[in-house]
Amino acid sequence: MACGFRRSIASQLSRVLDLPPENLIKSISAVPISRKEEVADFQLSVDSLLENNNDHSRPDIQIQAMRLAEKLKCDTVVSEISTGQGTVNFKINRELLTKTVLQQVIEDGSKYGLKSELFSGLPPKRIVVEFSSPNVAKKFHVGHLRSTIIGNFIANLKEALGHQVTRINYLGDWGLQFGLLGTGFQLFGYEEKLQSSPLQHLFEVYVQVNKEAADDKNVAQSAHEFFQRLELGDMQALALWQKFRDLSIEEYMRIYKRLGVHFDEYSGESFYREKSQEVLKLLDSKGLLQKTLKGTAVVDLSGNGDPSSICTVMRSDGTSLYATRDLAAAIDRMEKYNFDKMIYVTDKGQKKHFQQVFQMLQIMGYDWAERCQHVPFGVVQGMKTRRGDVTFLEDVLNEIRLRMLQNMASIKTTKELENPQETAEQVGLAALIIQDFRGFLLSDYQFSWDRVFQSRGDTGVFLQYTHARLHSLEETFGCGYLNDFNIACLQEPQSVSILQHLLRFDEVLYRSSQDLQPRHIVSYLLTLSHLAAVAHRTLHIRNSPPEVAGARLHLFRAVRSVLANGMKLLGITPVCRM
Ligand code: ARG
Repeated sequence: MACGFRRSIASQLSRVLDLPPENLIKSISAVPISRKEEVADFQLSVDSLLENNNDHSRPDIQIQAMRLAEKLKCDTVVSEISTGQGTVNFKINRELLTKTVLQQVIEDGSKYGLKSELFSGLPPKRIVVEFSSPNVAKKFHVGHLRSTIIGNFIANLKEALGHQVTRINYLGDWGLQFGLLGTGFQLFGYEEKLQSSPLQHLFEVYVQVNKEAADDKNVAQSAHEFFQRLELGDMQALALWQKFRDLSIEEYMRIYKRLGVHFDEYSGESFYREKSQEVLKLLDSKGLLQKTLKGTAVVDLSGNGDPSSICTVMRSDGTSLYATRDLAAAIDRMEKYNFDKMIYVTDKGQKKHFQQVFQMLQIMGYDWAERCQHVPFGVVQGMKTRRGDVTFLEDVLNEIRLRMLQNMASIKTTKELENPQETAEQVGLAALIIQDFRGFLLSDYQFSWDRVFQSRGDTGVFLQYTHARLHSLEETFGCGYLNDFNIACLQEPQSVSILQHLLRFDEVLYRSSQDLQPRHIVSYLLTLSHLAAVAHRTLHIRNSPPEVAGARLHLFRAVRSVLANGMKLLGITPVCRM
């Protein structure tokens, strides 16, 4: 609630401006801390007020700000009112600020910032987030990894905000690749290998049978036939397909667990084989389906034959395509979950695909199509593991763990750890996630292991290091000092900066919840860690009088709590030792 300060300022403003406080709350923002000087805590941008008023004449904003400031009075909450560039600035009573922020951080725990007045009046919604969605037997590429961590973040954030979230993994588990796989497995598959490492073995078989099929028409023919048997519901073929799918999911679940990711539903394209046929009938009955000379069927979204708006929905043999199955899946999910919002997380290469799917739903008469949203992300270049390009998710995780273990071994400050493998994995994952979440999701970037693992600078390693350090501070001094403290002792600029920064957490969460970009939270946590490092150097606990030591310890504990909250939202497990 930024501790209710915004509401308190808004109610005074509301009297002066004769506007309801609810309209003012979002115009009052916590001032980002600046290294230069002590800044005010909150500011009201006069510009945004005028927007609220729909007043387009825009009289001189500076004069407006000054006039407004003159009409406002200090009270028990606000101790100073001043003006800046088109803003009215408010300084909160220092003691109240300290007390309220620390109390709120501890009381609200993992909900700190989420109970804010910024989110009040936001009804809980039913939200479906579809993410990760790899293709069975094909490469798990970096795009799938990005989809996994971004989707997980979005689901975490929505859940934290009180929405009811359903996480769906929509597997690529249908299509000609299963014809090839069926044939390939009969030729060069091994049951034991399939059982012990299904993803690896199926991929090997897939690569090999692809090669064979390119040279040998008979193999290609038999792959086609196998897929046709699947499409027709042949029990034997389906049993083999089911085994491939089940074993793959089992292995995926184990690996997702290492990533800290779970799904409520493993769905897939295969589910929509029959329902796609219904969709085709529906399109036809609405007069939207057009047969082509080649025997395929298309939907013309522009209505005037513009080739870029033509979407193929049926092959010449009557089978469905990717887009058809997505239509069926969306309709099915609406029936099943009655969602208020459905979010698809994939690389930007699928932008047009989703535009077309949503548009088709719309012209089919489904108004809820506007509740569907595609969250696209950019391409990552150059991620390689020891085995080469990324083929398996597990390779990436192993690479992270190995590199991080080597890093930790070379750093003198590394502690004796109970489970170094696990710590290395968690620190390494933090590094990967922060690197990925620092910029706009839509931007492409060049991947570099060295940059990911830098312990200094703005990396996930730094966040984990800060968390571990703060944790050990509590362990060392916790029991001795926490009962006896005086918050009036937290008046140094380092403490005030931290408090001011903690005050802003809700705003940062709000921003990320609006544009679904994790970068706001990332840069917030990095700043928090830098502030903690400065405070750690200057605000000593050892040898300080107990009431000072206790107050500082409280401050550090609040920092760690908010740091941990933010990291968890991003999908990072904070470590207590490293
Ligand atoms: N399996 C697809 C791929 O790897 C991603 C699926 C995205 N989701 C969807 N509903 N189409 O490209």
